[in-house]
Amino acid sequence: MAYILGIETSCDDTSAAILENEQIRANLIANQKVHEIYGGVVPELASRAHQQSVVPVVDSALKQAGLTAQDLDAIAFTRGPGLLGSLLVGTSFAKSMSLALDIPLIEVNHLDGHILSHFIKENHDSQVPDFPHLCLLVSGGHTQIVLVKSPFDMEIIGRTIDDAAGEAFDKSAKIMDLGYPGGPVIDRLAKEGNSDTFKFAEPRIAGYDYSFSGLKTSILYLIRDELKKNPNFIEENKNDLCASIQSTIVRILMNKLCLAAKDLNIKTITIGGGVSANSAVRNAIAETGKQLGWTTFIPPFQYTTDNAAMIAIAGYFKYLNQEFCKLDAVPFART
Ligand code: KG4
Ligand code: ZN
Repeated sequence: MAYILGIETSCDDTSAAILENEQIRANLIANQKVHEIYGGVVPELASRAHQQSVVPVVDSALKQAGLTAQDLDAIAFTRGPGLLGSLLVGTSFAKSMSLALDIPLIEVNHLDGHILSHFIKENHDSQVPDFPHLCLLVSGGHTQIVLVKSPFDMEIIGRTIDDAAGEAFDKSAKIMDLGYPGGPVIDRLAKEGNSDTFKFAEPRIAGYDYSFSGLKTSILYLIRDELKKNPNFIEENKNDLCASIQSTIVRILMNKLCLAAKDLNIKTITIGGGVSANSAVRNAIAETGKQLGWTTFIPPFQYTTDNAAMIAIAGYFKYLNQEFCKLDAVPFART
């Protein structure tokens, strides 16, 4: 039996989680509200907020799990990709704690964390995906179709050539002045809108790659032209705009995922990353899965956006394999 502490500070959420083997014992996330007024994450403010939160968040996670630091068997931390200043806070904290407690240190790739989040067990009979499976990884920084052969063997078979799906949501929301992050706002407003009202450009690129920059331009032009005719166009059509944008993003995501699943003849499909919190994305995976006979894994909401439980589970796999890292491991910003 092993207790693994996970620490995630790659962007603007300070999170600490504790697993007992694969079982979740605590998962705490301190969100940083400070960025909202700037319409995006301000790196310097993010690192300062991590610095303030990391000790209390780890402390609360230990309390919630009913443990003390001395009970821990290893510490897993996000080494990258992410904002360098933010990563440095979690990395330095994890290093000092592992040194003080004399327990192993485990580095985790943030994206592997999102992909492996399906292996976190809420209870003893939680079902987990088999291998190989396909994961649609959709976050604010990445959009990939990953062939997951084992926890240590993953192949990216498709990726975005420009914007990520989360950026497509966030940039669309910015055009409409809906605040940051835009994904959850669009999701909420889309529920009251008609997705067939507006048509936007969809990419035509070969293989399993994605592109979202054309969609952004097409939204920008439509809104610019309509605003010339009616200055209240956004206000009067907000819900329909959100529903139409959301359904276009979902269609783009699903087309390539279905193609990859068919070509590779894989029927176990998972989804991960912040955009997997989107209700239309979740419905599309579940519905398409039913039609095509897939076994689908859609994460509970707390494991969609950035969280340390996913870092702890990825760390647990490495712990079993005795894959520890040295104290000179430095964070990396990009993959
Ligand atoms: O995985 P994540 O928390 O951070 C990164 O690793 O990037 O993903 C954040 C992204 C943001 O772009 C945010 O707008 C999007 O996830 N997001 C959503 C929803 N909730 C979060 N996008 C659409 N619908 C949502 N409900
Ligand atoms: Zn993420």
